[in-house]
Amino acid sequence: PPEPRAARRGVASPPRAAIGAAHLRTDRWWLSPAATAAGLLAFVVYSTWRAFSGADYYAAPYVSPFYSPCLAENCVPMKAGPNWALFGDWWLLSPALIILVFPLGFRLTCYYYRKAYYRGFWASPPACAVAEPHRRYTGETRFPLVLQNLHRYFFYPAVLVASVLTYDTLLGFRDENYAWGHMGLGTVILLVNVVLIWLYTLSCHSCRHIVGGRLKHFSRHPVRYRLWGWVSRLNAHHMALAWASLLSVALADLYVYLLATGVFDDPKLF
Ligand code: FES
Repeated sequence: PPEPRAARRGVASPPRAAIGAAHLRTDRWWLSPAATAAGLLAFVVYSTWRAFSGADYYAAPYVSPFYSPCLAENCVPMKAGPNWALFGDWWLLSPALIILVFPLGFRLTCYYYRKAYYRGFWASPPACAVAEPHRRYTGETRFPLVLQNLHRYFFYPAVLVASVLTYDTLLGFRDENYAWGHMGLGTVILLVNVVLIWLYTLSCHSCRHIVGGRLKHFSRHPVRYRLWGWVSRLNAHHMALAWASLLSVALADLYVYLLATGVFDDPKLF
């Protein structure tokens, strides 16, 4: 016999009420997904150009966050970040492509970005209470979207990359001759960027679960409880941090690009 309606759950839930109109909303509900799609598209175009260019990513003492750590033999010689030629002379593409797969995978599978691009690009659904154009809904239960579950594993390489960017930021406190005690506009830009990247990474839902999940009694784990409280507070701002860190990483790369191509010199603050 067919399963009773009430017993069907999740993606197998009964469909929406049979309303003729696509939605009953009278506000400009399309504005948010349209703006989200435009913002994400701008970043994708910019970052694709920069990641494939393989040039102008180092202006002593600053290295672009798109290119650190630089792990190929074809990296430009630089005194910043880990710069190990793990990939030999057979690697002919841009070195950014080796490392970007990790932050990209982290963002692509992020809970917030999933919502953003499902709505912005796939209209699935375009907004709350607006019917989606697809006839069948399987959620993230099938290939390829079932791979979104890998997000929890991308968290660890994302922490490693954030640590490398922190190291790069510290090295930005040297001048162009690598003497310590310098601070330029580039130092501040890298510093703001790395702080935002850490806040975004630590506000991750997986991080929250790693820190405080699967515990029966918070009272028996006071340290984890305290950490969980901090991560939870950050987690409430995850969307804002996702956008702020996306913008800052692009701006940090653009700044290094402008220095490397000689558009202007890095203004010294002290
Ligand atoms: Fe967004 Fe993990 S949920 S980074």
